[in-house]
Amino acid sequence: MFNIRLNPKLTISSSPIFKPKSSSFPSKVKMSSTSTSSENNPTDQSSSSSSSSSSSSSAAGKVKRLVLSQEERTKLNPYSDRDFYAYPRFVTHVDDGFISTLTELYRERLRPEFEVLDLTSSWVSHLPGEVKYKRVVGHGLNAEELLKNPRLDYFFVKDLNVDQKLELESTSFDAVLCTVSVQYLQQPEKVFAEVFRVLKPGGVFIVSFSNRMFYEKAITAWRDGTEYSRVQLVNQYFQSVEGFTQPEVIKKSPAANTAQGDQLPFSWSLGLLGIIPASDPFYAVLAYRNFKPVYE
Ligand SMILES: C[S@@+](CC[C@H](N)C(=O)[O-])C[C@H]1O[C@@H](n2cnc3c(N)ncnc32)[C@H](O)[C@@H]1O
Repeated sequence: MFNIRLNPKLTISSSPIFKPKSSSFPSKVKMSSTSTSSENNPTDQSSSSSSSSSSSSSAAGKVKRLVLSQEERTKLNPYSDRDFYAYPRFVTHVDDGFISTLTELYRERLRPEFEVLDLTSSWVSHLPGEVKYKRVVGHGLNAEELLKNPRLDYFFVKDLNVDQKLELESTSFDAVLCTVSVQYLQQPEKVFAEVFRVLKPGGVFIVSFSNRMFYEKAITAWRDGTEYSRVQLVNQYFQSVEGFTQPEVIKKSPAANTAQGDQLPFSWSLGLLGIIPASDPFYAVLAYRNFKPVYE
């Protein structure tokens, strides 16, 4: 049905890469992780915990400081995430208003020639259906879900709370996406540093979220926070890695997220009062590797 290629150097906790569609593997998806240079291993504690705030190119991609304490990384359910996601959930985790806002954001920011990495993906894609991207690679925790995702050219399964290393070549993606999942990352600084590494200069990382979550699996810092503090948290994840641009925050209030809400004054209050249906609040925090490109 589909080929599975295993990297002989991978350990048991690392990620097999599944290739559901064609028979050749693209040269830009690297299967091996033999390099130990700082560019390929930016989250190594010896370099990543550097307190240097230098903006020299050699510091780019390093974790400047840790945002979370050990306590803030804990979850109510401490058992394996692989087990938690072992059964496929063929559901959507946010409502139509949220999804259409996200799809519109992708339509604005992503170009057809882009190579896209959809981190923490599932069986659905929120990419605009009419746009054919050069390559879309998916990642998640459930292979059955990822196999059903119509937009993925390739995918791999990996628990990012066990190992943050992405078995992907440096500077190989124009965009990395993380949708309604950032709250589950226990080592977000290292994951963001890995995203920086795989992004091309000028590439964008778009992190979107709402107020829904698997409560037992969200980290303490997220569970205990407010919607405002969660935006600040994701801002800090970006700022903890040397070389991301100043994060941009995009927010849409619940009722304004619906077509109906867009047209009404005081729509948020009307939504709260139940006069018009409120939809999931939309937040996206995004930043670019090194610089924000200007497209003609
Ligand atoms: C709420 S779902 C969101 C799925 C998808 N992004 C979407 O928009 O439908 C949360 C996703 O986070 C991912 N996830 C949770 N914990 C993870 C972990 N420890 N490592 C890697 N991915 C994880 C899983 O792939 C899961 O599908």
